[in-house]
Amino acid sequence: MSEKIIIDCDPGQDDAVALFLALASQDELDIQGITTVAGNVPLALTERNARIICEIADCEDIPVYAGCPRPMMIELVTAENVHGSTGIDGIDIFKPKKEIENKHAIDFIIDTLKGAEKDSITLVPMGPLTNIAMSIIKDPTILRNIKQIVLMGGAMREAGNLSASAEFNMRVDPHAAAKVFNCGKPIIVMSLDVTHKVLTSKERVKRIENIGNNVASATADMLKFFARYDSNKYGKDGAPLHDPCTIAWLLQPDLFEGKECNVRIETCSPLTMGHTSVDYWGVEGIKPNAIWMQNIDDEGFYDLLIKRLKKFS
Ligand code: BDR
Ligand code: CA
Repeated sequence: MSEKIIIDCDPGQDDAVALFLALASQDELDIQGITTVAGNVPLALTERNARIICEIADCEDIPVYAGCPRPMMIELVTAENVHGSTGIDGIDIFKPKKEIENKHAIDFIIDTLKGAEKDSITLVPMGPLTNIAMSIIKDPTILRNIKQIVLMGGAMREAGNLSASAEFNMRVDPHAAAKVFNCGKPIIVMSLDVTHKVLTSKERVKRIENIGNNVASATADMLKFFARYDSNKYGKDGAPLHDPCTIAWLLQPDLFEGKECNVRIETCSPLTMGHTSVDYWGVEGIKPNAIWMQNIDDEGFYDLLIKRLKKFS
C-alpha cells in the first residue's frame, strides 16, 4: 500500500530535486498535495517554483498550495546567495500554466488530515516549519491523524549553515520548529549531519545529466548552479543534497542509520536562535521525541535518485 504524504517545501534547487524524486515514485508515495512556504526565497517564488517543477515532470495533476509568507514571530530571512534570485537558478524560468489552488496551505493540511484515518498521513517538511506549526495551532485535533513527520532541518555534529549554531530551516522559524518538535508525533530528522554526506560531486551530476530526459537535465542544470556556493564554502567536490534525503528515507529507509533521542529548539537566545539541542547520548534523561539520522549510504542514495530520474524517459 502506498504511503499518503503531504510535501511542504520552499523550492530551492534541493527541494526541487526532492519533488522530482517524489513525483517519480508515485507507486510508493500517494502525494495528497504540495504546500509551499516562505524560506529560500519569498512565498510568491516558492509556490511558482513548485508549479514549474510539477510541469517539468508532467505532473500537473498534483495540487500546489501557497502557505505562510513569513515566520510566526520573526522577520523572514531568505537565501538567494545560495539558490539565486529565482530560488531555482540553473534552469530557464517560465510562467507555469498550472494554477495555484485557491485554498490556503494551512487549510489544505487541516482538511486533508481531518478527512483521514488515525495515524495515516506522513508530513514531509523541507523548509521552515511555519505551515506545519500553524496548522497544528489552528486545529490541534489533526495530530491524531498524522502518522509521522519526516523533516529536513537541524545540525548537531555539523555546525550551523545560517548562523554559527543553527541550520537554515530551524533558524528561519525557530518558534514553529519548537512547536513541531513538541507535538508528540514521531519525527524523523534529516539534519546537516546526514545531508552533508550526500555531496553532488561532478561525477554524480554527470551521471544524472547522461540520463538525457528533460527532468534529469533540469536536475543536472540546477545542481551545477547549486554546487557552486557550498563547494566554495566547504572546499568539497559538490554541495550537500539536503531535502531529497526525506523522500529517500520513505522509499528506502535501510540507506540510513539514526538514533532515537530528544531534540529541543532554542527560541530565546539571540546568539544561538534555532539551534537544535540534541541529547544524543541521553545524558539529560528526557524522553526521546525524534529519530536523529546520522549516517547514510551515499552511493545507494544516488543510485536510487538516478534510477527514479530514469523513469521520466
Ligand atoms: C535547508 O535550507 C535550504 O536552503 C535548503 O533547501 C534545505 O531545506 C538546508 O539547510
Ligand atoms: Ca528546503
